[in-house]
Formats: sequence, structure tokens, C-alpha cells
Amino acid sequence: MKEMHLTNALKKDFPLFQAHPELVYLDNAATSQKPQVVLDALNTYYTTQNANVHRAVYGLAEQSTLAYEGARARIANHLNAASPQELVFVRGATEGLNLLAWSLSQQLLSSGDIILVTEMEHHANLVPWQQAALRMGAELVAIPLLPDATLDMNFLKTLEADGRAQRVKICAVSTVSNAFGTTHPLSQISSWCKNHGISLVVDGAQSVPHGSWDVQELGADFLVFSGHKVYGPMGSGVVWGKEALWDQLPPWQTGGEMISRVTLTSSTWNSLPHKFEAGTPDVAAAVGLAAAMDWMVAFGLKHIQDREAFLSQKARQILQEVEGLTLIGPQNQKHQLVFSFTLEGVHSHDVAQYLDRDHVAIRSGHHCAQPAMRALQLGSTARASLALYNTEEDLHCLGAALQAAREYFL
Ligand SMILES: Cc1ncc(COP(=O)(O)O)c(C=O)c1O
Repeated sequence: MKEMHLTNALKKDFPLFQAHPELVYLDNAATSQKPQVVLDALNTYYTTQNANVHRAVYGLAEQSTLAYEGARARIANHLNAASPQELVFVRGATEGLNLLAWSLSQQLLSSGDIILVTEMEHHANLVPWQQAALRMGAELVAIPLLPDATLDMNFLKTLEADGRAQRVKICAVSTVSNAFGTTHPLSQISSWCKNHGISLVVDGAQSVPHGSWDVQELGADFLVFSGHKVYGPMGSGVVWGKEALWDQLPPWQTGGEMISRVTLTSSTWNSLPHKFEAGTPDVAAAVGLAAAMDWMVAFGLKHIQDREAFLSQKARQILQEVEGLTLIGPQNQKHQLVFSFTLEGVHSHDVAQYLDRDHVAIRSGHHCAQPAMRALQLGSTARASLALYNTEEDLHCLGAALQAAREYFL
């Protein structure tokens, strides 16, 4: 097995796999490993460019500002954004969703309005909206789950029929469920939102890592994602939004850098995107994320999607062959990179712990989606999630380790 991984061309780009050649890493929905180019970008920034951005006029600070704003421009280009100003750097999807839940709700919500989410959201795309609804006297309504872990899209008709559709002002949905791997019908949700004049926030935490980047095709007003799941550094993340919409929003955090003029009693705000980036940003994280996305482009987004489609099919086939294993989630989805399952008679934590003995890293638990788990009457599931560096061998190791776990616990 060791040789297999060392001869894997892609894994060679990732120092962690050289430090742990035996590792079968299948917890990519939680975070991905980092290629050497990202580590090099961080190192180069800190060893040759580190200074605070925007404020100083000396050469080093200008270099640091250029690195930071250059990263923003490259990422904007990768996302096909209209301009770099449309991108606000945040620490990750959680921070980005908190930003939007605060600023959008201040701007758009009055008492009695509705925020629409789905029952399948990660807590990061649920709790901030719950809190926003409480603050603004609004109501949080969720599109329910069907037993196959897809969304009950007929619910939108129910909202129209009972008149609630007119009260929906914000809709916040993920592209792909981190708990079950379900790809949501985003174009249908987007059209519905457009028809009803609703602002659409998309949590792309589980689709951006797989190369779904084009914000012009997305049909949303805002897109949020975490850089650490896109082969970038921890502490990196992006909120993209249309400039005209950003312009109307009040700032979230306040302090240095986001202001234009300050008196003792009032302040005016800086231009975009600085209005939403209070204080010293994580410059290295932005630089590292740009390097990660450049690396994906160099590898080829189409190539990534083809490779992952192959892995997706293999994974389903191998998991289906494990005795006593039940896959939770859509049964016919072609491109699926998150597989949630139960193993008859074995608690998912025991499954994950047993697999760890074979150096197979998977996740177990509620996957930060407690309402979704409750809707399907599940306490916890085991979850294997794939990334482009995974191999067919990784999946065979997973299958063999699961079979062994089943035999051990029975
Ligand atoms: C769908 C989804 N949204 C949001 C998040 C939160 O991301 P982070 O913890 O990087 O802020 C996650 C993390 O797993 C996720 O899967």
C-alpha cells in the first residue's frame, strides 16, 4: 500500500502524504490537504513580504498590499466575478455567512418577513439566520427533507399557495449537503427566488472545492466558501456578491481600515471591499488561497471533474458491496463526493475508530447538521468524502476496512 501511494503522482504534490504514506484520507468535506505550492506561497509571503497592508507608504508594505490585492484579483478572475471589489475576504464560510446574516437582515428584514433555508443546512448556514430572525422579529422557514435526503421542492408551491412566498426576503441554501452529499436543485431555487424578488445566498462550501466556480452561472446574489476545503490555508474564505448589492449593505464588523472619516460621534465607510474587512486581514491566507486555486486551474478544472466523477462511481460501487452497509442519501446521483452511511449493528463512532487502525480517516457523528439528521431519524452516520488526490486504491482500502469492521463487531 505504501508504494501505491508514493507512486501516486498527485499525492506527491502534498507533503502531508509523504509524512504519512500509509494514510487514506477521506475526510475532505471537513478540510483538504495542502499542496506544496500553497505552503511555498505562505512561506514566501512571510519570509519576503510580511508587513501590514494598505496603511503604510514604505516599499515592503506596498509589496504586501500588492500580494493581498493581487490574490483578490486572481481569485475574482477564477470565479468570473465582474471585479475584484466584489470579493470580501473572511476566515471561512462560517464567518462569511455570519457577515451576510447580519448585514443582509439589517438591510432587508422587517418584522414578519421570512428567511428561507433548508432542513439540510450545515449549522453555519442555519444558526446565523436563526439569530438574524430573532433580532429582526422575522420567521425562519425550512424546505423539508424527503426520506431519500433530497429536498421537498413541492414545498415552494405550498409557500405560494398559503401566501408565505410574498414574505420571503432572503433565501440561504447550500449547493451540496455536507451530511449526505445531496446536490441541491440550485437553478430551480434561483429561478423561484428571482420570480419572487428574493435575495439568494449560496453556501458553496462543498462545491467550490470541486471546481464549481462561475458566479455568473450561479444565479445567486452572494456566494460564500471556505478556502481550507479548496486546498488553501485554514483561515481563508471568500464572500462574493454583486457590487450594487454590497454597496447597499451596512457593515458588519467595524474598526480600522473599513472607515473613510471618523469623528468622535460618527463615521463614514470606506469603499468596497474594505468596508467589509475591518482590521488587519489574514494576508497570507488570501495569498495561499489564490495559490491553491491557481494550482487547480493548472491541473485543469475539467480534469478534476472527470477524475472526481470516476472516484464517485467507484466509491458508490465499493460501498454498496460492503455487507450490512446502508448508504444514506440520493441513490442515483452521478457525481457525489460525500457518502454518508450506517453499518448494521455498529455505531458510526466505532466504525470510524476501527478504520483509523487501518489508517483510513473518515468522519462520524451528526456532521454539524442536527436538524437534517433528526429529520431522517438518524443519531449519527459515518461519512467518507473524496478529493481529487484520492485514488481507486484508497477506495478499496475503505471497502476492505469496513468489511473487516463489520466482521470484528459482529
Ligand atoms: C456546507 C457547509 N457550510 C459551511 C461550513 C462551515 O465551514 P467552516 O467551518 O470552514 O467555516 C461547512 C463545513 O464543513 C460546510 O460543509
